[in-house]
Formats: sequence, C-alpha cells, structure tokens
Amino acid sequence: MLIVAIDTDNLQVAEELVDKLVSVVKIFKVGSQLFTACGPQVLQMITQKGAQVFLDLKFHDIPHTVSHAVEAACRYNPLMLTIHTLGGSQMLRAAVAGRNHAGSSTKLLGVTILTSLDKGQLEEIGLSASVNEEVLCLAQMAQGAGLDGVVASPQEAGLLRPSLGKDFIIVCPGIRPSGPMDDDQRRTMQAKNAIAAGADYLVVGRPITQSPDPLAAANKILEEIV
Ligand code: C5P
Repeated sequence: MLIVAIDTDNLQVAEELVDKLVSVVKIFKVGSQLFTACGPQVLQMITQKGAQVFLDLKFHDIPHTVSHAVEAACRYNPLMLTIHTLGGSQMLRAAVAGRNHAGSSTKLLGVTILTSLDKGQLEEIGLSASVNEEVLCLAQMAQGAGLDGVVASPQEAGLLRPSLGKDFIIVCPGIRPSGPMDDDQRRTMQAKNAIAAGADYLVVGRPITQSPDPLAAANKILEEIV
C-alpha cells in the first residue's frame, strides 16, 4: 500500500497535493516539517478529504514525556504514529501505555535506523554493528515492547519479515525509481522490490511530490506494486 509523504511547510501546497492524489492515495504522511508549520489543522484537512494520516513525529524522549506525547497525538486519531526505537524499550513501553490510556487504535511504529544513514555514519555515532544487525536488534526490541510495527529500509525488509512474523507491520521509506536521485536517502530500493522483500506499506515523498505530474508518478508506483 502506498503512503505519500507531504513534506512542505505550507498548508495550501499540502492541500493541493492531497486534492491531486486522493483519488488513488488513501494515506498521507505528515512529518515534523508540516506539523510544526501548520499544526493539527493539517490532519483535519486530510481526514475531511476521506484519507487517513500517518503522523510521523518520531518521538524520542524520556518515557514519561513520550507516553504523554503519544496520548496527545492519539487524540487526532492517526492511523499510524512513529517513535524512535533508539529511545530504548522502557520508552517504547511507555508509548504503548500512552496509546492504551487514550483508548486509541492508532498503530505505533518504531523507527529503526534512518534510511539516510549508512555504515560510515553509524560508526560516526559509535554504533559498530552492521546496519542489518542494528535494525534487527531494534525491531525485535520494538516487537517485545508491544509496538505494532517498524519503519525500516526496504533493504532490511527481507531480513525482518521472517523474524517478526507476518502480522508485524513493516513500513519502508527510501523508495526510489530505477534511475539515480541525488538526495539524502542512502539505503533505497525500487517499489516492486520492496514489496517483494516483505514491506506492507511504502512511503514515497519527493519522487511523487517533486514530480511535474504527481498523480502520474503515484500511478506509476501503484502499477508496480499491485
Ligand atoms: O522524499 P522521500 O521519498 O525521501 O521521503 C521519505 C519520507 O520518509 C520523509 O518524510 C522522511 O522523513 C521519512 N522517513 C525516512 N526514513 C525513515 C523514517 C521516515 O525517510 N527511517
């Protein structure tokens, strides 16, 4: 299933994009840029048009703060919400408690290792295991803490699926067309290969939003994955 990341700081630009795509895209990702700039009204705009929200705020703080932040975010009833697994298992359990306290059915997803990081950058921050080892360790910890799924690179989906089982959600950003795109993403894959590797949802931003024809770009990806 395709999720389009609306990374802009302008509500009107976001709304125009949703209007162009909502006939074929049913989930839109709101990240820190759009939420910080426009606030909760952007979530209302998306749901009023009949689509669902993936609220990607990547919470990473002490357990008490994360628990309350999750509880507050769940009041907007997003389909999915992200938390950084590097915050540790206590923080992840606090996030689950916050969601449950809100009486919400929002799916909590743990971000593993950002798709923009490669081995060299992991070493720079003192993580010496391979990317695969780090991602698997974090994903297993997220599952043990009661999260519903993880966000990981499509390059790790094939490794995660057998270990996490078929019901654990795997969301993959870092989706790129076959030709090179000179941007910050590092661990990328084409849409059809990501689905074949075990991804449930693909998050695509710039290949669609920066395209001269976003609807055609979305349809091209949808054709690849059905
Ligand atoms: O434009 P692009 O397709 O790279 O957008 C990917 C989106 O997914 C961005 O909004 C980014 O914040 C998000 N994301 C990511 N890697 C993660 C988690 C989220 O790229 N591990």
